Amino acid sequence: MAFGYNVPMIRFGLIILCATVTLVAQPVRVPRTWYTAAVKDWATHIAALGVRPGHFTEAEYYAAPVENVRTYPVYFPGREPAGYWDRITKSAPQPLIDASKLKTQADWVTAGKRVWEEGDIIGFRNYSPEAIARFRTFNSPDLEEFKPSPDGTLPGPRWVVTARGVAVSAENCTQCHRRYEADGSKLDGPGLNDLTAFHVTGLVTNVPGMSTIPLPGDDEGKALWRSFIVPWVKDDINDQLKAMSPVDLGRLFGSAFGPNITPRWSGSLFYPTKVPDLITLKGQKYIDHTGTHQYRGTADIMRYAALVSFADSSDYGPHRILTDQQRRISSRLPDEALYAMALYIESLSPPPNPNPAGEASVAGQKIFQREGCAGCHAPPYYTNGKLTLAEGYRPSPEIARQYDILPISVGTNPDLALKTRKGTGFYKIPSLRGVWYRGRYLHDGALTTLEEMFNPDRLKPDFVPTGFKGLDKARAVPGHVFGLRLTAEDRAALIAFLKTL
Ligand code: HEC
Ligand code: HEC
Repeated sequence: MAFGYNVPMIRFGLIILCATVTLVAQPVRVPRTWYTAAVKDWATHIAALGVRPGHFTEAEYYAAPVENVRTYPVYFPGREPAGYWDRITKSAPQPLIDASKLKTQADWVTAGKRVWEEGDIIGFRNYSPEAIARFRTFNSPDLEEFKPSPDGTLPGPRWVVTARGVAVSAENCTQCHRRYEADGSKLDGPGLNDLTAFHVTGLVTNVPGMSTIPLPGDDEGKALWRSFIVPWVKDDINDQLKAMSPVDLGRLFGSAFGPNITPRWSGSLFYPTKVPDLITLKGQKYIDHTGTHQYRGTADIMRYAALVSFADSSDYGPHRILTDQQRRISSRLPDEALYAMALYIESLSPPPNPNPAGEASVAGQKIFQREGCAGCHAPPYYTNGKLTLAEGYRPSPEIARQYDILPISVGTNPDLALKTRKGTGFYKIPSLRGVWYRGRYLHDGALTTLEEMFNPDRLKPDFVPTGFKGLDKARAVPGHVFGLRLTAEDRAALIAFLKTL
């Protein structure tokens, strides 16, 4: 019998064909970054207040002017390609993203990589001739300690060409969420290992404190205090910031900043956070260590990028952190740029794992099961995405109903979750994928190796953590007692397994 094609089959085939063509040809639908229904219940309640932080309204957000311009690297003297500066100063502003040229999903991800790499902190743009001269001539003593990347560029600053002219500005996301490898390559996603970009940024901008937006009316001290104050906490530790001597402040900064650890606006110099690896967002339901916002899909990454770059109103129920003059969105990225960047972030994958599975790791996997780790760190993402309770916090049933909570506490230091503006009362369960290169463990990055993480001595007050320890010489790193009572052999096997993830 010949293979006859009957009419219904052809019709069916045509339908499939049309559906495929429609799928391929369909333009990418760019989500709206900021709209009332999406921001209304996006943020997590603040534990001490029982309210969600407020946000700019949709109208306020879209009233802000759009900034869509490319930026360019700053070269060390002698390393600049011939004619580079001329090209920059004579060129017209170029679009950071041109959505009309993007057809496929892959085009969008490539465009997103550019937004990620070139996107600057708009509020930091500095058009002053002195600031520009500093990065043209490097005649500032502050710049002496820095070395160029292998390609001759200085991580941190960016030249930006806008309708107003050329400004010096600063890298945004890559300042903190990028790792520099020994061979000169760059790994996007994990927390910074090199502080150059971070330090240099301080020399670019006139914006004081830990803010990404200008704070008119504030001097450095006031801005620093405003970055962290928590008006609803009695005897707020940040009250000291206003009166601290430069020496004490320097020591505090020294303790809170380092490879892979930095406080953010609304976080704390006293209770800083490690920089999370954005590669491990997969499998998560919440954003930030304390789960400050939900992660419901790509648009929430767009929203979060907008929030931390230019759109944090910093309202908490009756408490307002910003003055009327400061509380505004000066400019915003186009939705297309934020969408492309969010797609790029979601496309990030881990570097090749150099730790092959072997006898020890197979034994370790069994220990992982036996010790109940998988109950929280469930494969395939090695997190179940849930929130746990910070020591001492019990949410009301009404609040608890609205979140995906495992109602137990792992007993780690509760201060970030209870005494900061990121104080949701929760710590999320982190993914264990990529722990082999993470280099910082627990929300505050107190520990820097897995051996240290599973060393029971860390519970003792005379323990000296190799990571964050505040201003103390020694301090216990409490909580997360899972895996602390293993024999030396079992512990080694468990760690061998974790290193394969
Ligand atoms: C100054 C350093 C710094 C810069 C710049 C920065 N981040 Fe972050 N980022 C952090 C830190 C620290 C945290 C953790 C904050 C917390 O847990 O409270 C974080 C958290 C995040 C998270 C949540 C990840 C998770 O696993 O919960 C995302 C997503 C994120 N950043 C994306 C971005 C994007 C996109 C940009 C650029 C628009 C950016 N960040 C700029 C330091 C930075
Ligand atoms: C009840 C849930 C739960 C169980 C069970 C659990 N963990 Fe965790 N784990 C957490 C939470 C929550 C954190 C983050 C705590 C913090 O940052 O304060 C964490 C953090 C970690 C970290 C540090 C990751 C990072 O990036 O900071 C490692 C490693 C880890 N757990 C491994 C294990 C292993 C191995 C086991 C079993 C021996 C285990 N966990 C059992 C909830 C759990």
